[in-house]
Amino acid sequence: MEIIRTIDALNQRIDTLKRQGRIVGFVPTMGALHKGHISLVNRAGVECSAVIVSIFVNPTQFNNPDDLERYPRDLQKDVEKLRPTLCKIVFAPSIEEMYPQPDTRRFDFGMLDKVMEGAFRPGHFNGVAQVVSRLFDIVKPDKAFFGEKDFQQLAVINKMVHQLGYDIEIVPCPIVREKDGLAKSSRNVLLSEVQRQNAPEIWHTLFESLTFANSNSVEQTRKFVIDGVNAIPELKVEYFDIVNGETLQSIDNWDDADYVAGCIAVFAGDIRLIDNVIYKNNIL
Ligand code: PAF
Repeated sequence: MEIIRTIDALNQRIDTLKRQGRIVGFVPTMGALHKGHISLVNRAGVECSAVIVSIFVNPTQFNNPDDLERYPRDLQKDVEKLRPTLCKIVFAPSIEEMYPQPDTRRFDFGMLDKVMEGAFRPGHFNGVAQVVSRLFDIVKPDKAFFGEKDFQQLAVINKMVHQLGYDIEIVPCPIVREKDGLAKSSRNVLLSEVQRQNAPEIWHTLFESLTFANSNSVEQTRKFVIDGVNAIPELKVEYFDIVNGETLQSIDNWDDADYVAGCIAVFAGDIRLIDNVIYKNNIL
């Protein structure tokens, strides 16, 4: 496994890969790798002939300093988890390497980042766009792989790729869940025993809402999910919305969009978890 720390060294490595005619697949991460990340890496391994994983806890996307500070970091453990995969290059830059000067770029994603995560974590998606565009400029991948758990992040990245004219295929990859249904997340290890026991109810409630939605309105379904999750000890819904899966704007009726998703953020104590469910997808 090659662990590359500087942009210059990575550029040289990538030039060689490109000269060899390799298709470069890129999985950006903030480390604390779990099976969700590994599924992205495996997918990249199937679709590409070279796989690069970046591990960088990006400060510009954290609007809560405590969240940034306690974000789990263990590069050696991450490298061990990548060893059995087809990823042979890890890019793990320092903050100074990524941001020799502060990144002052301001992106305009219209209403896409004004709702849900964007509304509750102001500046978060601007930070994500800063780091992902910077990583795209450095890695110059043919394809980049992102998890569908971060539903809004995927929409924002797609928009950014379009706006900045990147010739990169964005590959969405399905959510990976624990056996009990909890979506895999680097934050799961921070949950207390009770929180960990109760957290799968987030997915169970979303899943039950699929059936509930068949015979109830959008508004009733929103209430079903919010009340259901709030009734579980230690869980507190920050937001749950049922949205047009393309524009991410709230809908009033099930017929308002061909692609409909329900996106949720929940606090388990002070650990924030997100998940989502697809009610309808007629745009495939
Ligand atoms: O999804 C994440 O882990 C991060 O937002 C990403 C895409 C690696 C950017 O820091």
